[in-house]
Amino acid sequence: MENAENLRNDLMTAIAGSDGTDALEAVRVSALGKKGSITQLMKSLGAMDPDARKEAGQAINALKGEVAGAIDARKAELEGAELDTRLMAEKIDVTLPVRPQWDGRIHPISQVIEEMTAIFCEMGFTVAEGPDIEEDWYNFTALNIPPEHPARQEHDTFYLPGEKDGHRKVLRTHTSPVQIHTMQDKEPPIRIIVPGRTYRCDYDATHSPMFHQIEGLVIDESTHMGHLKGCVIDFCRAMFQVDDLPARFRPSYFPFTEPSAELDIGCTRAGGEFRIGHGDDWLEILGCGMVNPKVLENCDIDSTRYQGFAFGMGVERIAMLKYGIPDLRTFFESDLRWLRHYGFSALDVPGMAGGLNR
Ligand code: DAH
Repeated sequence: MENAENLRNDLMTAIAGSDGTDALEAVRVSALGKKGSITQLMKSLGAMDPDARKEAGQAINALKGEVAGAIDARKAELEGAELDTRLMAEKIDVTLPVRPQWDGRIHPISQVIEEMTAIFCEMGFTVAEGPDIEEDWYNFTALNIPPEHPARQEHDTFYLPGEKDGHRKVLRTHTSPVQIHTMQDKEPPIRIIVPGRTYRCDYDATHSPMFHQIEGLVIDESTHMGHLKGCVIDFCRAMFQVDDLPARFRPSYFPFTEPSAELDIGCTRAGGEFRIGHGDDWLEILGCGMVNPKVLENCDIDSTRYQGFAFGMGVERIAMLKYGIPDLRTFFESDLRWLRHYGFSALDVPGMAGGLNR
C-alpha cells in the first residue's frame, strides 16, 4: 500500500496548508467526495482477491478515519481564527469622543413634542395615542358636537369616501377624540397628554392641512379649575423658559368643556421685535376648560363622582414662537437647508434636568 502512504502524506500536507475553510472544504471533497481519491481507492477493493481485500480494506478505512479527523481538527482551528479576525474588525472603541455630524438633524416639530412631553411627564402625565382616521362619533358627537353644531363647519373636515350605510370616517380635526378613547378604556384617575397629527382643509402662512396638536386630560374626584390654571401656566413658563411669564385666562367656548377658557401669555412687539415675556401685549396660546359632564357620561363615567380638566394646543405655533420660525408651511417642505438651520442635534435629548434646548 505504498500508494496509500503517498496519498496520506499528500492529503495531510494539503490539510495543514489550507488557509481558510473554503480551501479546506476543497481538500475534503478531493479526498472523501464521491469522486475523491480515498473513495476511488475503496472502489478498487472490488477487484482484489479476498485476503488482499481484507488487509487493504482495513488500511484504507484507517486512512479515511485519519484524514476525516485531521480535516475536522483543521476546520475548528480555521473557524476559530476567522471568528477572531471578525471580532477584531468589528471592535468599537467606546472611549473615542463623539463627533456629532451635521447630516442628520431632529425636525423642530419632533424636538418641540419631546420638550413638551418632558415637561408634562415631570408633572406626572403619561403619553396616549389614537388613530388619525376617526369615526365621526369620536371626533365630534362624543365630544358634545352634535350633527348640526356650527363647530363642525369651523373644523374644515376632510371626509373619507362614504361607506354603504352612508356614514363617513374623518381625518381627525383635533387630538380631542383620544380623550374619548382613553376614558372608554381606562378607569379614573386619568392623567394623559396626546401629541399627534391632525388635519384640516386650510393652507396659508399659519395653516397647513396636516399639523400637530398636543392634548391634555386629567380626570379624578377632586381636580378643579385651580389645578388647570397651575398646570398650564407652569407648562408655559417651563416651555418658554421665562419664570415670571405673565398669563391671563379669557372666557371662551368649546362644546367639550364647561366652563371653557383660552390662555394668553405676555409678549412684546416693541421696536418691531417679537418677544415672549413681560410687555404690553398678549398672545393666545391654548384652549382649555373643565371637562363637560356630558362628555364624561358619553364615556360611561359617573359625572357626579368624577371631574377634571382638558386642554389643547398647536405644536407648530409653539415651535414658531419659541424658535422664531416665521412661516408654518416651511415645516413640511422637506428643504434640507431649512432643516440644517432650524433642526436640532440628535444627541441633545430634551429633559427638565439637563435643559430643554441645549
Ligand atoms: N380641540 C380644540 C381645537 O382643536 C382645542 C381644545 C380646546 C382642546 C379646549 C381641549 C380643550 O381639550 O379643553 O381647537
